[in-house]
Amino acid sequence: MGNGIAQVAARSGFDVVMCDVSAEFLARGMKAIDKSLQRDVDKERLAADEKNAITGRIKTTTEMAELASAVIVVEAVTEDLNVKQKVFQSLDSITAPAAILASNTSSISITRLGSATGRADKVIGMHFMNPVPVMKLVEIIRGAATSDDTYAKVHALTEKLGKIPLECQDSPGFISNRVLMPMINEAIFALYEGVASRESIDGIMKLGMNHPMGPLTLADFIGLDVCLAIMNVLHEGFGDSKYRPCPLLKRYVDAGWLGRKSGRGFYEY
Ligand code: 3HC
Repeated sequence: MGNGIAQVAARSGFDVVMCDVSAEFLARGMKAIDKSLQRDVDKERLAADEKNAITGRIKTTTEMAELASAVIVVEAVTEDLNVKQKVFQSLDSITAPAAILASNTSSISITRLGSATGRADKVIGMHFMNPVPVMKLVEIIRGAATSDDTYAKVHALTEKLGKIPLECQDSPGFISNRVLMPMINEAIFALYEGVASRESIDGIMKLGMNHPMGPLTLADFIGLDVCLAIMNVLHEGFGDSKYRPCPLLKRYVDAGWLGRKSGRGFYEY
């Protein structure tokens, strides 16, 4: 999702530094940005020179130190508390004391990420939705110590990015994934129990509920590893068995069938 966030920020006129662990990932990210912007050029919604100006505003690096002058950093690393806490510790030492540190986490506690830094008042959740250039929502999550000033700045920034900010307190899964993921998990249980085929489950939700994608297609789109990580956060966070991840979801993740990104999930790609 990092490249989608970089694209949206650069398109809104911001200078962006996109940082990743390898040149290969950065190249893949820039390719995705190019492809996404090219759609709009092809549809004559963006001039070719504007596209070049947007990509020209994105600098790529594998050195986190290059984020030193950032006014705001939006972290979008892997959905793992330890990894994210280490990234936040590094960002805390690299960036200026006034910089805001936002996380695109889909379910990890903002309060915990804030406490890994010496500036919990400036740590906040900015939860973008996939595909980032298309989806209007940014769920803004306030940690226990997030200040009103940080919230106001991030709210204003989200609007400048052409998105709609909606506020939420720090609670497992926030609102989006607390509501979405149990539905996806239930669809996987229905498949696991042989209640219906994958096509029927998805078709019933698409045609009957007007969802743009069926829940199994959406799970493949999000990534089954991400879905499992979120169910685990809900299960542990609430201690309620209603959030237990479906064994079929665990089995697919164990097999490396992670959805679209690995070529196989509930469907083949
Ligand atoms: N970049 C730029 N534009 C894109 C794009 C991308 N990656 N993907 C699609 N689009 C644009 C297309 O150009 C098209 O634009 P237009 O209608 O203005 O010409 C529009 O989006 C629709 O695309 P398509 O016609 O190719 O395909 P669909 O109509 O099937 O739409 C979809 C694709 C927008 C992905 C739609 O299926 C959808 O809304 N799916 C549900 C997405 C969703 O639920 N996202 C949230 C996931 S949960 C999440 O992210 C949270 C996390 O924490 C788990």
